[in-house]
Amino acid sequence: MKAIRIHQPGGAERLVYEDAPAPYVGVGDVIVRVHAASFTPGELDWPVTWVDRSGRDRTPAIPAHEVSGVITEVGYGTTGLRVGDRVYGLTDRHRDGAAAEFLAAEARDLAVLPETVTHADAATLAMPGLTAWQALFTHGRLADGQTVLIHGAGGGVGSMAVQLARDAGARVIGTGRGPHGEVARDAGVHEFFDLDQHRFEDRVKDTAGRVDLVFDTVGGEVLPRSTGVVSPGGTLVSISSPPPALPAGGQAVYFIVEPDRAQLTEITERVRTGRLRPFIGATFGLAETRRAFLAKQNGIPGKIVLEVHGDG
Ligand SMILES: NC(=O)c1ccc[n+]([C@@H]2O[C@H](COP(=O)([O-])OP(=O)(O)OC[C@H]3O[C@@H](n4cnc5c(N)ncnc54)[C@H](OP(=O)(O)O)[C@@H]3O)[C@@H](O)[C@H]2O)c1
Repeated sequence: MKAIRIHQPGGAERLVYEDAPAPYVGVGDVIVRVHAASFTPGELDWPVTWVDRSGRDRTPAIPAHEVSGVITEVGYGTTGLRVGDRVYGLTDRHRDGAAAEFLAAEARDLAVLPETVTHADAATLAMPGLTAWQALFTHGRLADGQTVLIHGAGGGVGSMAVQLARDAGARVIGTGRGPHGEVARDAGVHEFFDLDQHRFEDRVKDTAGRVDLVFDTVGGEVLPRSTGVVSPGGTLVSISSPPPALPAGGQAVYFIVEPDRAQLTEITERVRTGRLRPFIGATFGLAETRRAFLAKQNGIPGKIVLEVHGDG
């Protein structure tokens, strides 16, 4: 099969389009004919890109662990999915990814995709959708009527979090750079503060007092500064680095997103019913993956689709 591979650690310049062996279907696995894939710009810096779960070298590695496609083979002991099912999900980062014509993935990491949701939309939803869901509901315990502050509200994860929080009945305040305000407003923020123009602490104090939950996708100095805007007993969730402790009763959480079939099903149900929209910044063919990584690193907003077998 054709695939994008990287033979040794380094940046996106080292990605090559070449022939690779077709993947083997293991116990509990399925083989997916990849229709669309997506990636996280920093994934070539992750140690898991180079080694398997035993720490052994697994190069050449195939990147992009966000996938949508159709099952062509089912491994021994696999339940819940069948050959011909349209599926999507976030796959194990210790294994080869979806920048290829075919992918072997654990069946439990994938969910069935409704006919009305395209492969391009699904591939770009998996990681931001799961990350936003787990931040708001698993770790942040966000409830109807609460107020959430989302840093990076115009980004891939942030814009998904804004929509999910609004849908759950929360009041949503977003921050980010000025040009991303339009995306954040389109996603549904009640207020948006430009981090380059305002001290968000002051603006939050003026508009909401304190918030029940902060979800920080930006990191850096924004993270420690956020501790002061959390209500007593509230929560600060970060996906960039571990946050400082909050005063007694508050909870500070750092987590790494995990595959979850039930949550994927909740996410696609919201897309199917028009309550959630993915944020696609650009589409590239599989052979152009190197250019896609470089374009994302140079600041294209939104998620990038790698079109492999397409939606036809
Ligand atoms: N822990 C996990 O499991 C997990 C999961 C997913 C993502 N992540 C990480 O979370 C981060 C966000 O991911 P993403 O996919 O949403 O990225 P993204 O689409 O690039 O969104 C990040 C947003 O934050 C804004 N931003 C970044 N630094 C800023 C600053 N100093 N001031 C103002 N705005 C700033 C960006 O604006 P500009 O484009 O203008 O910089 C962008 O709008 C990444 O670092 C990613 O690696 C972690």
